[in-house]
Amino acid sequence: MNLIPYPNGEVKLSPELFVLGKEPSIERPDEPFSFATDQVQGWLTEKCHLVPTLVEPGQPASIRFRKSNRNLPDEGYAIYVSPDGCILEADSATGAFYAFQTFKQLIDPKKGSIPCCEIHDSPSFPWRGLLLDATRTFCPLSEILRLIDLSSSLKLNVLHLHLTDDQGWRIAIEAYPHLTDSRAQFYTKEDIRKVVAYARERNITIIPEIDMPGHFVAALASYPQFSCTGGPFTIPQGEGIFSELLCLGKDEALLFAKQVIGEVCDLFPAKFIHLGGDEIPLIRWKECPDCQSRMRELGMKDEKELLRWFANAMAQVAKKKGKTVIFWNDSIDTQYDPSIVCQVWNPLSSGSNTVGDRPLIMSHYFRTYLNLSHSIIPTREAYHYGLVLNDDPTRKTSMKGSEYLLWTEHIHTRKERDKHLFPRLGAGAEAMWTDPSHLDLKRFCHAFSLCNERLFLSPVARTHPLAANPPRLYCTLRRFLQHQQVRYNSKKSGITKS
Ligand code: ACM
Ligand code: ZN
Repeated sequence: MNLIPYPNGEVKLSPELFVLGKEPSIERPDEPFSFATDQVQGWLTEKCHLVPTLVEPGQPASIRFRKSNRNLPDEGYAIYVSPDGCILEADSATGAFYAFQTFKQLIDPKKGSIPCCEIHDSPSFPWRGLLLDATRTFCPLSEILRLIDLSSSLKLNVLHLHLTDDQGWRIAIEAYPHLTDSRAQFYTKEDIRKVVAYARERNITIIPEIDMPGHFVAALASYPQFSCTGGPFTIPQGEGIFSELLCLGKDEALLFAKQVIGEVCDLFPAKFIHLGGDEIPLIRWKECPDCQSRMRELGMKDEKELLRWFANAMAQVAKKKGKTVIFWNDSIDTQYDPSIVCQVWNPLSSGSNTVGDRPLIMSHYFRTYLNLSHSIIPTREAYHYGLVLNDDPTRKTSMKGSEYLLWTEHIHTRKERDKHLFPRLGAGAEAMWTDPSHLDLKRFCHAFSLCNERLFLSPVARTHPLAANPPRLYCTLRRFLQHQQVRYNSKKSGITKS
């Protein structure tokens, strides 16, 4: 069956068809199935050009949602299609929404027919995400909503919004209005509330990322007094790793970090807040009298300790708001607060084997960085990350799941975005949802060739799944495999200097 992501449970297909007819009837749902029912109605109207009608419970109906009362696994659902009609079974709004995602792929939009079948399904990993970098290239609100629709069609459940970086601060903070008073584009709190509500209906949690204490030039351009040198700073363009950091020796700079975290925790309902912590050159702290005096006061021997102290302190600030902090894996070690979740992007960086017994989110550089070209990460590499994840010793203990990432230094338009995302995000979605025993790249590629017809409401631009340039891939991988520490990464061409 051409389903993405492919189901994990039993799938039975019969030769008969159920035909919806011009005016299919849908049983008026009980809560919590009303949103999924609206979605089915909208799909039949817009995609299949049918005229669905709602009928009262107990009346004959072509499509009905039913509570399972069987204690299905989290996010699980079942579908039963027979010559008498279609039953979508779930325990929760989430399960019903995912039943709809599968159901819409079963419908032939031209004939309005559905193969008779039985499908039982639930996900392999609980954390299935897309990271969107909204800093290097600002992403308009309507486009974020479209990406939420696309992600939810693929049964992803996390949208990680990278909101601040050297090249832009994209979220309004009441306590520090100058962060967004330049002409740069940003999200108001009202914008964020809209995104969060839209995502929540589609079972997507928005995880905000406020990257600190590095990747911080945009903040320091507005508030240079929170830097080690006092500035002035101009917001850079393009890619790079910059030396300017939040100064941990100045009390008002620490207060800044705490207040920003407080406001962001209050705005986003997610239980998690991502605080970055990646790619931090320590040179400014080494040269800063305030940072050095803070280190002496706290009896620290080096700047790594200062960084760890800051990370643990910010984790406490978030904890008081009921939130758990996520950091990139660059500096995490066993002395970081055990509640801190580690997102592993650079498996060579110190930390990937010494992060301690903490929850992990996996986003390996050469599998999930969808901003890299298809020649560096072909669809099969993104797809087979599912096998890598399932073979990892942390799979059974601490791995929550994975995210696929779209950094945007070199990606500016909707078409470029889509060509980087597809089909690889679909491949990633299947890697995260589907058990390795059911992974089949050939089947996936065929099923994805139908995505604009069966999976997405409006068509996406996509790259051919076999587009790849082996010589360049080979050179880059050879460098990667030399086990050198990665000190510099280029968002365009992969690791260029090590
Ligand atoms: C990263 O790519 N610096 C997370
Ligand atoms: Zn300093």
